[in-house]
Amino acid sequence: METSSSIVTRNLCRTFEVRRKSEGFLASLKGIFWPRSNFVRAVSGLDMEIQTGELVGFLGPNGAGKTTTLKMLSGLIFPTSGSISVLGFQPFQRDYEYLGRISLVMGQKQNLWWDLPPIETLAIHREIYNISQAEFRARLDELVEMLEIVDCLDIQARKLSLGQRMRCELAVALLHRPQILFLDEPTIGLDILMQKRVRAFLLNYHERFRPTILLTSHYMEDVIALVQRVIVINRGLKIYDGTLNELSKAARLEKILTVTFQSIPEGFSPLAFGKLIFQEGPRFQVKIPREKAAETASNLYSTGKVLDLTLEEAPIEEVLGELFAS
Ligand SMILES: Nc1ncnc2c1ncn2[C@@H]1O[C@H](COP(=O)(O)OP(=O)(O)OP(=O)(O)O)[C@@H](O)[C@H]1O
Ligand SMILES: [Mg+2]
Repeated sequence: METSSSIVTRNLCRTFEVRRKSEGFLASLKGIFWPRSNFVRAVSGLDMEIQTGELVGFLGPNGAGKTTTLKMLSGLIFPTSGSISVLGFQPFQRDYEYLGRISLVMGQKQNLWWDLPPIETLAIHREIYNISQAEFRARLDELVEMLEIVDCLDIQARKLSLGQRMRCELAVALLHRPQILFLDEPTIGLDILMQKRVRAFLLNYHERFRPTILLTSHYMEDVIALVQRVIVINRGLKIYDGTLNELSKAARLEKILTVTFQSIPEGFSPLAFGKLIFQEGPRFQVKIPREKAAETASNLYSTGKVLDLTLEEAPIEEVLGELFAS
């Protein structure tokens, strides 16, 4: 299969100027005439290349520069220096044709009109993107089915739950069939079941339409379920670019096992299979190597004394902690 780059950045930088407020009257008077500034290097010499149809995870701790990068790629803010080419466009020129080929979804912000039901926001987007009525109906039916939002369309957006709103956001963002999708924490704040549904949708959507997706998330579950390749940045600098598999060899992928016993089995020691995080009476939480998780869980069940057992991915910041430290 022929591949081509959809997204290319070279030596991409973005600096923010942050005015420093001075304390005290004289100092603030001085500040009016001689303002003092600090410069924050949010993105520092970022090179990346993403092929058409790839689904790439863009990871890093808080303040690493992920949102700033996505904003530059979608043309919301200018780079300080360096170059960007997405589908051959320079995003910051905000070419009408370019904006019709991309979408930016931010878990923290919304595109839906707060006072309108989603169906009306969708109708507005139909007009903006000049989609025919027939095409609109077909795409809407498809998205409504995939996102399971038939009951949400006529309810004022402000009255929707976070999970309902997020799925409607995705419908709005995808209505014009963008070739490039920038997803900034699309699962943030959702409960575990809703996160799963959004993930399943994204996987299904990507399989069906093959858009190029750059996705940020602080949830390891998202990364494991969705992406094969990850780019990791820290303080604006790229520190890893490669397969998740390779990364998991460098970083330790662990699971958090939480078990509550009816009564603690005789001779049970949590230290035998992992690192103890806490114990409260018959409830234990331990961190165990990923590859041992299933076996450990089934051994525990076989004692016949398990009341409740859950397995979760270890937090992403912990998994990647060693990379960040270097
Ligand atoms: N408009 C702005 N003015 C000043 N500084 C900013 C602005 N936007 C971002 N920054 C700074 O740039 C750096 C990168 O921020 P950015 O939002 O890109 O991080 P992030 O990787 O998205 O973090 P998070 O995971 O918390 O969302 C931070 O130090 C942030 O304070
Ligand atoms: Mg961010």
